[in-house]
Amino acid sequence: MTNTVKIAPSILSADFARLGEEVKAVDEAGADWIHIDVMDGHFVPNLTFGPPVISCIRPWTKKFFDVHLMIDPAGPFLEDYAKAGADQIVVHAEADKHLDRSIQVIKGLGKKAGVSLNPSTPVCMLENVLDQLDMVLIMSVNPGFGGQSFIPAALDKIRAVKAMIGDRDIDIQVDGGVNAATAKAVVDAGATCLVAGSAVFKGDDYVATIKAIRDSYSA
Ligand code: DX5
Ligand code: ZN
Repeated sequence: MTNTVKIAPSILSADFARLGEEVKAVDEAGADWIHIDVMDGHFVPNLTFGPPVISCIRPWTKKFFDVHLMIDPAGPFLEDYAKAGADQIVVHAEADKHLDRSIQVIKGLGKKAGVSLNPSTPVCMLENVLDQLDMVLIMSVNPGFGGQSFIPAALDKIRAVKAMIGDRDIDIQVDGGVNAATAKAVVDAGATCLVAGSAVFKGDDYVATIKAIRDSYSA
């Protein structure tokens, strides 16, 4: 199974002045997906970018655009992110009063749908929407910033979500503090997609870093 684990570098830690080139560079360095962190300065204490920036980087790669919306509300903006080039749109359970509706809207736009849980949010929040999901995102840091330390309690949560999913075809993504030192525990617990922001972009050799993460759990 470990050879099917996807690595999704988060452009939050990229050089924003050269965002297109950075996306191309991680594509060529072996990224499976591009993880795109949208923050609104309200749901999380940081502000990034929105649909126009995503549209600008879309031509730089054919890789899957995994758009992590840390915005409240998300519902009114889903179509904008789909039009900007998202392949998957992930909304936070905590930020969406009408989670079921948002998932239906995302699927109606022809995109994959994910739900994200903050570290303090219990997995039971997924219970009534799980069948509609392509991915569950388990936050292993409190969202808002790159470069934070992995919260070990996420490992039990990954195991719990894996048990809930059973044999359904739903990815488990883990986001926050993932690097070559933490990835193996995350994959062993059941993650199928790893987000890595600072681990990839703060190093100077993207090929070596992505390979080191992959090798850490493939051995
Ligand atoms: C945090 C973001 C993450 C972030 C992870 O709110 O959702 O995607 O980029 O950064 P690292 O990998 O540095 O913890
Ligand atoms: Zn993220």
